[in-house]
Parts: sequence; C-alpha cells; structure tokens
Amino acid sequence: MALLDIKELKVHYKTRKGPAKAVDSISLTVEENETVGLIGESGCGKSTTARAIMKIIKEPGEIVGGEVIFQGKDIIKMPDSEFRDIRGNKLTIVRQEAQNALNPVMSIGNQIAEVILAHQDVNKKEAWSKAEEQLDMVGISHKRAKSFPHELSGGMRQRGMIAIATACNPDFIIMDEPITGLDVIVQRQLLTLINDLRERLNLTALFIAHDLSVVSETCDQVVVMYAGKIMEKADVVSIFKNPLHPYTQALINSYPSIRGEKKDLISIPGSPPRLVDPPQGCRFHLRCKFAIERCRVELPEIREVDGHEVACHIVG
Ligand SMILES: Nc1ncnc2c1ncn2[C@@H]1O[C@H](COP(=O)(O)OP(=O)(O)OP(=O)(O)O)[C@@H](O)[C@H]1O
Ligand code: SF4
Ligand SMILES: [Mg+2]
Repeated sequence: MALLDIKELKVHYKTRKGPAKAVDSISLTVEENETVGLIGESGCGKSTTARAIMKIIKEPGEIVGGEVIFQGKDIIKMPDSEFRDIRGNKLTIVRQEAQNALNPVMSIGNQIAEVILAHQDVNKKEAWSKAEEQLDMVGISHKRAKSFPHELSGGMRQRGMIAIATACNPDFIIMDEPITGLDVIVQRQLLTLINDLRERLNLTALFIAHDLSVVSETCDQVVVMYAGKIMEKADVVSIFKNPLHPYTQALINSYPSIRGEKKDLISIPGSPPRLVDPPQGCRFHLRCKFAIERCRVELPEIREVDGHEVACHIVG
C-alpha cells in the first residue's frame, strides 16, 4: 500500500467567470521512503495540490472531488478533530515562500518547541531541548534558538522551517519550492541538507520544484503537471533520459542547471491556458508542435508507455 494515494483529486477556485480548475482530476502515489518530484510551469497547480493534501485550501478554493488516502485513510473525509493530530505531526509541509511563514514575534526555538508540545507528550523544558537539537540538526547552532526570524538570514530561516517540519519525525513531508528565491550557494547548501535528512530520517516526500536539475538530484519519481492535469510520470532517470510527453521534453529543454552548466534557454512558446476555460482536447495542444486534429477535440487519457505513464495521443 502506498503511503500517499491521491485519486482523481479536484480543486477549484471560485471566480466571477466560473470555477478555475486548478487541480483537475489528478492521481498519484508516493511509496514509503520515496521522494516524488512535482514539476510544471507557474500556475499549473503544484501548490494547490500540496495545500489540498494538507487540507489547508482556503476560500475561494475548494476540494470538489477525489480522495487523498494517507496511511490507508481518506483525509478529505476525516473529521478535523482526527486530522489535527496528523497535520504538523505525521504529515508536514515546508510551504512556498516559507520564510515569510515564520511568526515574526516568536523566537525560532519557541516556534519549533510549540510544534513539539502540540504533538508529543513532553514538558516545556524537554520541548525546548528537542528544539535546540533540531536546530543543530539543520545546521543552525542551538545558541541561536532565542533569535527572532528577522535576526536570521534567508537560508537560516528556511533551515528553521525545515526544523519545524521535521520536529515530530513526520511520516510524510511536502517541500514546496524549498530553495527557490535564495542565492545559488545557499541553494546548494540547503539541497545538501535536504538530501542528508532524507537519508537520516528515512523521509518520504513530495518535492515541488521549478528547477529540474534540483529534481534530478533529490527525487526518485517525477510527476509533470500542466494546466491542472498530469502529463507524465516516470522514474527520475528515465524521465530525463527519455522524456516521452512533448511538454516534458519542452520543460527539460527550457531550464538551466543549478550546476551552472551552460545550456541555451529555449522557452516554451506561448503560455499555459486559463483554467476557467481551458481548451478542449489536450490542454497543451495550443503550444504543442506535434499536435494533430485529434488533440484539439479529445482529452488524452493517461496510459502506460515504456514504463512511463503519459497523457498524449501520439506517444507509443
Ligand atoms: N485564490 C485564488 N483564486 C483564484 N485562482 C487561484 C487562487 N489561487 C490559485 N489560483 C489559480 O490556481 C492555479 C494554480 O495555482 P498554484 O499556486 O497551485 O500553482 P503553482 O503550480 O504552485 O505555481 P507556482 O509555480 O507559481 O508556485 C493558478 O493558475 C491560479 O490562477
Ligand atoms: S496529445 Fe497532442 S497536443 Fe497533447 S501533447 Fe500529445 S501531441 Fe501534443
Ligand atoms: Mg506554487
């Protein structure tokens, strides 16, 4: 049984022009001890998927269908009283722009201790001491435990967020663009930390990223999203060696590498469709150089080709 099994999840945002289908019937699984990378252009629904898993979708957003089965139970149907002990404890998230998510008027040590106190049977002193250990583990000296977020660098704040998210030994962690927006040296250091923690804590993770080279270094499986739909899924080696979906191929060609390899940036012409009224047929057809008539009228089903799962009429 997969640790996380998402089935036909649908999340809509209400707008004046009708619902924006930000996540449109996606299914994916994450096995224990596996890291799955979720990639796609801005606005394709990655963070919405992450928020749905955490049940933190806010108005005007709403989960309108599907299941999110975590450790065998559908958390969407689960009462809040039961889910409260899972969120922040067994299931955690390092949110996009997490650095701004820290409480500005609480020391970093207290913010970690607070999570520990909420979920573990410890007293304040024990929670503080565990918070100090967490800080050391993520590479911030425990002597900084009384520092407030504004006294920490961007990289340290991000490490602090990782310390909070791993404080209760979670069974599953979502990292939503955990290194985006930081300078390249700090990105590299954080990536080393994340990989180290993956091994040390046996983390199972969903890793959301823009930068494909980061995904290639951290993930076992890769899921490619476009306009609220999944386009391709495959293991990380195979997806980079042999991308089958035209969108995956375009994505791989259009991103530079964190290693600083000189690679020409070929941007994908056009932009993703509006999610209120996406085009009929394949969501990618207006930008796809391989589109045929069928692509304009029929939505491709996801199917298996060469060990990948791919939603494209012409592949295979
Ligand atoms: N509050 C909102 N109201 C209306 N639409 C929204 C709202 N929040 C998100 N959306 C829509 O949902 C879509 C998916 O947004 P989401 O933040 O999940 O994308 P993303 O893939 O995480 O993008 P990025 O890479 O920029 O973080 C976007 O196209 C956006 O237009
Ligand atoms: S289904 Fe058609 S439009 Fe969509 S990616 Fe495949 S070839 Fe391109
Ligand atoms: Mg996002």
